[in-house]
Amino acid sequence: MTDVASRRTALITGASAGIGSALARVFAANGFDLVLTARRADRLESLAQDLRARHRCAVHVIAADLADPAAPAHIFQEVTRAGLSVDALVNNAGYGLPGRFLQSSWEQHRDFVQVMVTAVADLCHRFAPGMVDRERGWIINVASLAGIVPGSAGHTLYGASKSFVIRFSQSLALELLPHGIHVTALCPGFTYSEFHDVNRMRGQVSQLPKWMWMDADTVARQAFAAVMRGDIVYVNGRWNRAVALLTRYTPEWLVNRVLKRFAKKFRRA
Ligand SMILES: NC(=O)c1ccc[n+]([C@@H]2O[C@H](COP(=O)([O-])OP(=O)(O)OC[C@H]3O[C@@H](n4cnc5c(N)ncnc54)[C@H](OP(=O)(O)O)[C@@H]3O)[C@@H](O)[C@H]2O)c1
Repeated sequence: MTDVASRRTALITGASAGIGSALARVFAANGFDLVLTARRADRLESLAQDLRARHRCAVHVIAADLADPAAPAHIFQEVTRAGLSVDALVNNAGYGLPGRFLQSSWEQHRDFVQVMVTAVADLCHRFAPGMVDRERGWIINVASLAGIVPGSAGHTLYGASKSFVIRFSQSLALELLPHGIHVTALCPGFTYSEFHDVNRMRGQVSQLPKWMWMDADTVARQAFAAVMRGDIVYVNGRWNRAVALLTRYTPEWLVNRVLKRFAKKFRRA
């Protein structure tokens, strides 16, 4: 265990499941205290108990729904009230909205953009100034391989929101680097978590070969190493890196043609 004076604190959104829980375990194992947030407080509490016992770290739980525009301010106030300063911010919370753009109500899209785009930028805007003052900090914004490949029919705002996260993180990384802060846009591909149960795509995506999938613990370990190294965009796994590379160097019409066929397996459109 690291001594109290040198301990650092990581705030992780979407820590009640999947990649967020795995990131909480990785940060705790690396000597960080934690602030965990998501909607399901019971899940967060049981993870917190486990991490306190296993790593002797302090863990603070804040239940919040990021679809509520007031949530980032509420989280910031709770952190300040607890006398904590956040050294590492992980914007991980997210979900998918299946179907075509016009099949969902505007309210559903509005909430989606709030969680996937606005809350990410809002939390960075609130917590980065403290990192600048302390001249150190780490920010992981969880994007996706879907933010790199061209859009396909269905799940319309998902790829767009993840492209935003990548471009936003790239700019922020360059702005904050002189202040000793590393910002990483993390781009996982298919990862075992609750994601495809929540968006009811498990049946479709289970047709994909096993080698296309990664486990959340590996994604989280690689994310931690990437932000510590200062990688600005990190794509998890060799297969996903090959797809990202091919996307960059293959004519868009060809990528679109391949995607159109392939996307049927994991996109409801
Ligand atoms: N799994 C994949 O294949 C994959 C691939 C690429 C990128 N990603 C990205 O990875 C991130 C984590 O996803 P995951 O795969 O770990 O999915 P997951 O297992 O479903 O976990 C999603 C987390 O986000 C939280 N969340 C969802 N809506 C929220 C809201 N309105 N307010 C607050 N928290 C909310 C959930 O907590 P509560 O339900 O308790 O609120 C949960 O902790 C997401 O940004 C996702 O887009 C996933």
